[in-house]
Amino acid sequence: MNLASATLTEANGLGWVLVVAAVLVSGLLLAGPTLRRRYPVTWWLLLGFPSVAFRVVQTWRPLMAGCGLAVSRRPALTVVSGLVGKGSPPPQPRVPRRGLMHPTSGGFVLLVRLLPGQVPENFVKAASAMAENWQVHAVRVTSWKPGVVRIVASAADPLAAPRLPKQRGPGQLLRVTVGALETGAAWVLDLRRVPHWLIVGATRSGKSTLINALVAGLAPQPVALVGIDCKGGMELSLYEPRLSALATNREQAVRLLAALVDLTLDRMNVCRAARVRNIWGLPDKERPVPVVVIVDEIAELFLVASRNEKDEAHAAGTALIRLAQLGAALGVFLVVAGQRVGSDLGPGVTALRAQLGGRVCHRVADPGTAEMALGDLNPDALKAAQAITPEQAGTAVLASGDGWERARSHLITEAEAEAVAAEYAHLAPVLSELHVEAL
Ligand SMILES: Nc1ncnc2c1ncn2[C@@H]1O[C@H](COP(=O)(O)OP(=O)(O)OP(=O)(O)O)[C@@H](O)[C@H]1O
Ligand SMILES: [Mg+2]
Repeated sequence: MNLASATLTEANGLGWVLVVAAVLVSGLLLAGPTLRRRYPVTWWLLLGFPSVAFRVVQTWRPLMAGCGLAVSRRPALTVVSGLVGKGSPPPQPRVPRRGLMHPTSGGFVLLVRLLPGQVPENFVKAASAMAENWQVHAVRVTSWKPGVVRIVASAADPLAAPRLPKQRGPGQLLRVTVGALETGAAWVLDLRRVPHWLIVGATRSGKSTLINALVAGLAPQPVALVGIDCKGGMELSLYEPRLSALATNREQAVRLLAALVDLTLDRMNVCRAARVRNIWGLPDKERPVPVVVIVDEIAELFLVASRNEKDEAHAAGTALIRLAQLGAALGVFLVVAGQRVGSDLGPGVTALRAQLGGRVCHRVADPGTAEMALGDLNPDALKAAQAITPEQAGTAVLASGDGWERARSHLITEAEAEAVAAEYAHLAPVLSELHVEAL
């Protein structure tokens, strides 16, 4: 009797749990679309991640086998057992061991141990199959430590609407958060680490917007900004109050670049006298102010129509190359933007390109430009650059010594740009030697 009533209560309890669970699940499913729109992270953690995790577990073995990542156990015996094993199934191939899946705010991370004979590149090749099978936006594979690869999946394109970080104060000198990386981390341009940058992209691909974000971040810092904008100053004149010098045609640009080379040589003498290798070795009080030189549309400097222009273009090219060679140690940094950076612009362009270590490639009109910007990197990087659509303006592929990443700059409107320049105009260092009108 007692036993029967206990079983009944237990069944009742179980029933209630099932009902509550069913109500919760159906509530979540009904509210799903709204939840996803309003609170994408909560939606992902409650609904998206569990269903993707289920798919990963279910498809792991066939996926590994399909991508050639499964290894047969004792291959010689497999045949024998198939022939003489009296109907016993042949041994299943071994698949790489998977660690726990850790959800992130927009995807998940998973570590996988390699089997004997496997290398991380085998998994890199399988990344797009993983993304298809798990129905996620993208999967990136990197080696984690010897014998282990790290699989990072993003559920949706994190660059569709990157979140603006809250920047407080001027931040670290010469370091600016200009956008978001595909991983969800901040995209930081650090001129102390990589002093010179090349930004390429077709028209309206987001070059000037990236420069806007960079200048807006540098404006509150104790840094001199110098602009060269031979499209008549249409882009950089927004920032004129915060600029220490601005050249708006080629003639001015040549004079300004010559003055910058002189300034760099003066700094070199100061460093030599103080027996230090760069300006960062000088005492704080004696250290000259860092100068960031921004060139918007390099082609305007190099393309020539007449003989006279040819001399000017040559002079500008030579000065830029010298600045790039000497500048990093002496506090002169270059940020050069252009639609094309091919050798058709002139012989100096290739040499200049080689000096600009940081590369940002927006949407490009032809594969050649992407190749020139990204170098002979992984062909996947070139494919990613060519896959950027006009709707994704501001999206770019970044290349550095240690690989490539997708990123998107923050949209800084012209009005915002002007407001920032006006707000920090009082911080613009006076560098009288750079005043092109007076030169
Ligand atoms: N990060 C971004 N997010 C959203 N929209 C963007 C972003 N970057 C650029 N855009 C859009 O693309 C437009 C063109 O961008 P931008 O002026 O920076 O292009 P550009 O490469 O400098 O072009 P051009 O070579 O013609 O000067 C912007 O007005 C803006 O609407
Ligand atoms: Mg532009």
